[in-house]
Amino acid sequence: MLVNAKEMLDKAYENGYAIGHFNTNNLEWTKAILNAAEEKKTAVIIAGSEGAIKYMGGFRVVADLVKAMHDEMGITVPVAIHLDHGSYEGAKKAIEAGFTSVMFDGSHFPLEENLEKTKEIVELAHSKGISVEAEVGGIGGEEDGVTSAGELADVEECKKLASLGIDFLAAGIGNIHGVYPADWQGLNFERLQEISDAVKMPIVLHGGTGIPDDQIKKAISLGVSKINVNTECQLVFAEATRKYIEAGKDQQGKGFDPRKLLADGTQAIVDKVEEKIEMFGSTNSAK
Ligand code: 13P
Repeated sequence: MLVNAKEMLDKAYENGYAIGHFNTNNLEWTKAILNAAEEKKTAVIIAGSEGAIKYMGGFRVVADLVKAMHDEMGITVPVAIHLDHGSYEGAKKAIEAGFTSVMFDGSHFPLEENLEKTKEIVELAHSKGISVEAEVGGIGGEEDGVTSAGELADVEECKKLASLGIDFLAAGIGNIHGVYPADWQGLNFERLQEISDAVKMPIVLHGGTGIPDDQIKKAISLGVSKINVNTECQLVFAEATRKYIEAGKDQQGKGFDPRKLLADGTQAIVDKVEEKIEMFGSTNSAK
């Protein structure tokens, strides 16, 4: 059975480590994330963006895939299926389809509207035992075609959002999605500290790809308990698959069989997810 993400994140927050949120894109991705979490004996969050969900065939397909795979593989660690950057309508669809956790991203709305809609999603989700992440201040970069300039979230706005009963808060602290530009200034720890002191709840760090390890560790020490990683898994999958094809392996024997063709890429995701889990400090936390 899948679980919501509240308990695993509260435990991480109290014990000074972070749970990995890894975006899934297909069956292989899902299997790789589950295998890595089971191997590392840690809870994990498997996430789908609305774009990936559309690609995979819809909300129910994703919720049911993760649920069935979790059960059939005999996974023993806690796993949540989470909607990443959900719209108002998307969050409702995910709740309906059996997601155990949703992010409602109303950061592009005027504050009052973000607060109003977040409150409604919290009530709906919590009535079904589903956890809720909400966001203030855009996370920079591009995701599913939505671009926002990197921002530092306003502390008072964070406080208002946190007071609505959300379970964890995504707040911009200089982080952006995708690969960081060469002139990136790094995370703003001063703002993170202020937000953390004000909300006293697990904070979510988006744009986990490419943040140096020492900055990740410092962020965790200041209250970050969930770290989102997407691009980095895509990059290692593409690289391993490219190497397989460039080595001509798809042309040897039955090397064209997708079960062989995608095996190296899938293993590269397992390795990357395990590496991240280790760095986030959650290894053996579900023992
Ligand atoms: P990256 O693609 O930069 O790892 O960011 C992932 C993310 O924040 C998903 O919400």
